[in-house]
Amino acid sequence: MWFYLVTLVGLYYLLHWYREKQVVSNLQDKHVFITGCDSGFGNLLARQLDRRGMKVLAACLMEKGAAELRNKTSDRLETVILDATKTESIVAATQWVKERVGNTGLWGLVNNAGISIPLAFNAFLKKEDFAKILDVNLLGVIEVTLSMMPLVRKARGRVVNVSSVLGRVSLFGGGYCISKYGVEAFSDSLRRELSYFGVKVAIIEPGFFQTAISNSDRHLSHVKMLWDQASSEVKEIYDEKFLLSNETTIKLLDKLSNKDLSLVTDCMEHALTSCHPRTQYSAGWDAKLFYIPVSYLPTCLADVILFWTSTKPKNTP
Ligand SMILES: NC(=O)c1ccc[n+]([C@@H]2O[C@H](COP(=O)([O-])OP(=O)(O)OC[C@H]3O[C@@H](n4cnc5c(N)ncnc54)[C@H](OP(=O)(O)O)[C@@H]3O)[C@@H](O)[C@H]2O)c1
Repeated sequence: MWFYLVTLVGLYYLLHWYREKQVVSNLQDKHVFITGCDSGFGNLLARQLDRRGMKVLAACLMEKGAAELRNKTSDRLETVILDATKTESIVAATQWVKERVGNTGLWGLVNNAGISIPLAFNAFLKKEDFAKILDVNLLGVIEVTLSMMPLVRKARGRVVNVSSVLGRVSLFGGGYCISKYGVEAFSDSLRRELSYFGVKVAIIEPGFFQTAISNSDRHLSHVKMLWDQASSEVKEIYDEKFLLSNETTIKLLDKLSNKDLSLVTDCMEHALTSCHPRTQYSAGWDAKLFYIPVSYLPTCLADVILFWTSTKPKNTP
C-alpha cells in the first residue's frame, strides 16, 4: 500500500518537473517588453533575457537608466522612455513596439514598474497619497496592458504582472497594498479573457527584496515628513513614539529582506519561456514560508498573527 502511494507521489512530482522544464521554441525570434527597467527586477530581467538571446524592448522612466542598461547589454536590446502614468507616453511606446515586432506581434509584456511611497498608517495620509501609487501600480498596469493587448494577442504570447505578497496580505496602510490587490484582480479576469486567444497570464508575488523601492532610508524620510505634516489630533493618537517604532519595523524588514533578485527574475523568465507557465509565482523565503501561508488562514487567525508582528499606535484605549 505505502509502496504504491510513494510511487504515485514520486511519479506526480516527476511529471510536474518534466512539464515545468519544457521551453518554447525560437526564443531568439521573440520580443519581450518590460516596464521599469531603470533598476531592480526590471533591470535584471532585461539583462537576463538579453543573455538568453531574446529581443528585449526595455522601457525606462529616465534616459540615464536607459543609457546604463544599453551599456551593459547586447545590440539586440533596445530602450524606450515610458512613464506609466501618462497616456501619451504609453501610446508612443506602443507605436514604437509595433514598429519593432511587425506582424509577429509581442510575445511578452512584463508590467513591472512600481512605486511604494508613502507606506504609513492610513490616518497620516490624504486621498492624493493613495492616488499617486494607484496611478503607477494599478492604472499604469491596466493602461499599458490595454494598449499592448492587440500585439500580445497576435503573438499568442504572455502577460506577466508583478504583484507582491502585499497583494495577498494587506500589511501596511496607504495605496501600495490596495494597488497590488488590484493587480491580482485585474490579472485574474485578464487570464480568463485572454485564454480564448491562447495568451497566458502570470502573476509574480515576491516577498521583501532589497531594491530601490524597499530602501528603508527613503521610506523613513517620507514617514518623518508625514509626521511633520500630521494634525495635532493624529499626533496625539499615535504619539511621537510612532516614528521610533515604525523605524524599527521598517529597518527590520530591510534587514530581513532577500538580496538575491534572481529569485524573482527567474520566475519571470519561466513565465515567459516555459511551455506551461504557472498562473502564480511566489519568490523569496518570506513569501513561501510566511505571507502566502498566512493569506490562506481564517481572517481572525491571520489578524492575530499580523497584529502581533505589526507596529501599533501608542495611545489606544
Ligand atoms: N522590492 C520588493 O521588495 C518588491 C516586493 C514585491 C513586489 N515588488 C514589485 O516589483 C516591481 C519592481 O520593483 P523593484 O523592487 O525592482 O523596485 P525599483 O528598483 O524601484 O524598480 C521600479 C522601477 O519602476 C520605475 N518607475 C517608477 N515610476 C514609474 C512610472 N511612473 N512609469 C514607469 N516606470 C516607473 C522606476 O524608475 P526609477 O528607478 O527611475 O524611479 C524603477 O525602474 C514593482 O512593481 C514592485 O511593486 C517589489
